[in-house]
Amino acid sequence: MIQASQVTPSTPRKIDPPLKKGEKLPRLLAIANQKGGVGKTTTAVNMATALAAVGKRVMLLDLDPQGNASTGLGVKRSEIRKSAYDLLFEEGLNPAELCVPTKVPGLYVVPSSMHLAGAEIELVTAKRREYRLREALRRPLPFDYVIIDCPPSLSLVTLNALVAVDAIVVPLQCEFYALEGLSHLVKTIERVKQHFNPKLDIHGVLLTMYDPRNRLSGAVADDVREFFGEKVYNTVIPRNVKLSEAPSYGLPAIVYDMKCPGAQAYIRLAGEIIRREKKIMEITRLETSDAQDNSKLIENKISSQEISA
Ligand SMILES: Nc1ncnc2c1ncn2[C@@H]1O[C@H](COP(=O)(O)OP(=O)(O)O)[C@@H](O)[C@H]1O
Ligand SMILES: [Mg+2]
Repeated sequence: MIQASQVTPSTPRKIDPPLKKGEKLPRLLAIANQKGGVGKTTTAVNMATALAAVGKRVMLLDLDPQGNASTGLGVKRSEIRKSAYDLLFEEGLNPAELCVPTKVPGLYVVPSSMHLAGAEIELVTAKRREYRLREALRRPLPFDYVIIDCPPSLSLVTLNALVAVDAIVVPLQCEFYALEGLSHLVKTIERVKQHFNPKLDIHGVLLTMYDPRNRLSGAVADDVREFFGEKVYNTVIPRNVKLSEAPSYGLPAIVYDMKCPGAQAYIRLAGEIIRREKKIMEITRLETSDAQDNSKLIENKISSQEISA
C-alpha cells in the first residue's frame, strides 16, 4: 500500500475551476485518523446529524469500504447503485446525484461499496490520482457541509480526502496509545499542505470514549491538550453504550436516544464546530478584504506612476 506521506505529486496542481457569481462551495471536512476504532465513523454520523438538525444541509461521504457510516444511517446494500467508488473513478459524476436520503431531514449519504477496497490499487496508476476526489467535490453543491468518513489508513484513498477538504477533524480515543502514530498523521498533513492542498488545516482534535472514572482517560486528555493546545475541542465525547447500540438500528445516536450523554456531547460538538466555522469565515473575510485593500494600494500606486510618467 502506498503511504500518503511518501507520495510526491504525479501531476502539477490544477487550479480549481472558478465559481460563477452567487455560486458557493460547501465546507468540506474530513474525519481522519489512520487508527481504527477511535470513533471516526461515530463522529462522522453524529456530527453530520447534529449539523442537519440545526438546519444545515449535509452530505456524508462514506470512504471506508467497511461502509459503517452508510449502514449506521440505515442505507441498505441493495439500495446502493453508485457509490463513493464511482465518484473516484467516473469523471464528471456529480456527487449530488449519488446521494441517498436518510431518516434525518437535510442529511444525505454517498454510500461506500466493497469496490472501494480495490480502489487503492486502481488509484496507483490512475491519472491525477491524488486529485480525483477534489475534482469531484470542488463544485457548487446543494449542501452547506460535506463530511468525509475516512478509512483507517493513510493510503491513497485517504490522501484523496485530505487533498479535497478544507480541514480535518481528528478523533483521538482517550486511552494509553492515543498519541501513538499521531506524529505520522501530523507529518502527513504537513506534506499534503506542502504538495497538494496549501490551505488544509486541522479543524480540531476530538477526545472520544472519555471515561471519567478511569484516571488514564484524564491523563491522556491532559497530554493531548498540552500537545495540541486550542485545537482540542472543549467538548469531550464520553464512553457511552448508546453510541455503540444506535448503528445496529440504522440510526444516529442523536435520533436513537437524543437524551443520552453521547448524543448530547455530539450536539454540543456541532455547536462548537459552527462557532469555529464562523471564526474561520471572519478571518478569511478579513484576509480577503486585506488583499483587496492591498490590490487597491497597488492599483493606486501604478496609476499614480502612470500619471507621473
Ligand atoms: N463514545 C463512545 N462510547 C462507546 N462506544 C463508542 C464510542 N465511540 C465509538 N464507539 C464504538 O467503538 C467502535 C469503534 O468506533 P468507530 O466510530 O467505528 O471508530 P472508527 O471509525 O475510527 O473505526 C464502534 O463499535 C463504536 O460503536
Ligand atoms: Mg470507521
